[in-house]
Amino acid sequence: MQQAASGGYRLGPELLTAAAIQARVAELAGAVSRDYEGLDRPLILLSVLKGSVSFATDLGRSITVPVNFDYVAVSSYGQATVSSGHVMLLKDLSMDVAGRHVLMVEDIIDTGLTTAFLFEHVQRHAPASLKLCVLLDKAERRVKPVEVAYRGFTIPNQFVVGYGLDFNELYRNLAAVHVLEPDAT
Ligand code: PRP
Repeated sequence: MQQAASGGYRLGPELLTAAAIQARVAELAGAVSRDYEGLDRPLILLSVLKGSVSFATDLGRSITVPVNFDYVAVSSYGQATVSSGHVMLLKDLSMDVAGRHVLMVEDIIDTGLTTAFLFEHVQRHAPASLKLCVLLDKAERRVKPVEVAYRGFTIPNQFVVGYGLDFNELYRNLAAVHVLEPDAT
């Protein structure tokens, strides 16, 4: 969960254009396709609801090896500026990942708490491998170290929306990533 923002904000300038995102997604998909070539069974793209759906969908579309999609959901730790670090599973895996290669797909990694929690959870199901592909990495906000296998962009500590990322459930549909800025008007 990104650092909180509340009321009185408006959509600011683009941090990443749609074209820049799509170009990077294609590069990531190329790397994933090369790394997972020749698997006996499809690679499982594990998308974390809701923010990663746009990224996981575009990534999956450009990956050239067979993939399955699965989805998990965790409770957001809400509007707190300082995270409690307490994450709860709201929707579990629907696929049996035992012995399978799993690539967790996230739109953004901030404190790392969500990913760390989910990694531990998925590992209990004994996948053949588990790696992380993240579009946006707010590296300076990290609390829990997490290994990032595929990274789209490292971004500064600004509240960003678009391409899956929301502010009060708005802006997920935007093709670019924008900064959210205070609305002084
Ligand atoms: C975002 C993002 C990650 C999490 C990362 O989800 O999709 O799951 O925050 O934050 P962390 O590294 O500090 O744990 P969010 O809680 O905003 O829910 P959403 O995907 O439904 O928008």
